[in-house]
Amino acid sequence: MAIDTGSLPMPRTQAADIFKYLNDFPTASMILLASNENPRGMPESARRAAAEALGAAGNYPDANGTALKQALAAALKVPADWLVLGSGSSELLTLAAQTVVEPGQAVVWSQYGFLVYGQAAALVRGKPVVVPARAHGHDLPAMLRAIDAGTRLVFVANPNNPTGSFIEAPALLDFLERVPPAVTVLLDEAYTEYLTPAQRYDSMEWVGRFPNLIVARTFSKAYGLAGLRVGYGVAQAALAARLNARRPRFNVTTPALAAARAALADDEFVQQTRELNRTGRGELAAGLEALGLQCLPSAGNFVMVEVAGAAALHAALLQAGIAVATLDNYGLPQWLRITVGLPEHNRLLLATIAAHTRH
Ligand SMILES: Cc1ncc(COP(=O)(O)O)c(C=O)c1O
Repeated sequence: MAIDTGSLPMPRTQAADIFKYLNDFPTASMILLASNENPRGMPESARRAAAEALGAAGNYPDANGTALKQALAAALKVPADWLVLGSGSSELLTLAAQTVVEPGQAVVWSQYGFLVYGQAAALVRGKPVVVPARAHGHDLPAMLRAIDAGTRLVFVANPNNPTGSFIEAPALLDFLERVPPAVTVLLDEAYTEYLTPAQRYDSMEWVGRFPNLIVARTFSKAYGLAGLRVGYGVAQAALAARLNARRPRFNVTTPALAAARAALADDEFVQQTRELNRTGRGELAAGLEALGLQCLPSAGNFVMVEVAGAAALHAALLQAGIAVATLDNYGLPQWLRITVGLPEHNRLLLATIAAHTRH
């Protein structure tokens, strides 16, 4: 089915995993709903800051990221020496494993947990302990039972990707209180900016309470800077120092540092992003359900939808210029993950699915 996408605003970035599709589907510009980026692109404030900072790119970046750390410390109300900057928060996930896990020691995470947890565990030759999910979300009691004397690291994502599942604060706090102090918990909050006021909780206060907790966040999602690669970890000073000692010295570039600082100050952009996501996600889920497809409830900027012929629908969407994510690599071959796009993206996606399912 041919749909004219010419008049739609297209995200300008091309996520790396889309390039392989572009060989098969030589579309000049696709609607990228496969990697949970911000469909609005980067904030104008960050674009200006990055462009200005390019002038200084002949020199190495500030290895300590001092200005960004100061801004983060003020925003999060934590000391600057609790912060670790990463080339995306993915780097924090691997740094955590490299810092606390010796070969053969166990790393625990949930079935359908973010793929990088397994990669981080493999990188340090840790023993993977994948705990079966409950209703596609974390089974925290089962994860606690899976922790033993050989466990060094536990990954928890809140919200989780790709399922969108969310753990309410009391359950998460109870979990943190029960994890033995010798086990590090990496709480991955890549999508935390999308939470509703009722869902929000103060994980910075938890970092103050638990010396074994690392909270990881990113500028790749709500802040719209996925291509610049900036994330950060927050842990008490002793643990943060161990992570910083392993961190590659110039892991965040000068334009990325400047852009992240500008984006952090751009409350309006994040607020608008959250609102656009809330309405878009609702419309997407309702539209998919009207087509007879079931979505899981999602607290992130994406939905996971069950589709009998997921691979065929994925291919049909690519033909129409829309990239969504297949989830075979998560053991979910009958599901697709769809990032919430701009309203016109969501409408086009639903129209394309409707046309495909009619055939
Ligand atoms: C749950 C989760 N954690 C971490 C990341 C890493 O993002 P980045 O490395 O761009 O900060 C992602 C990206 O998709 C994610 O979904």
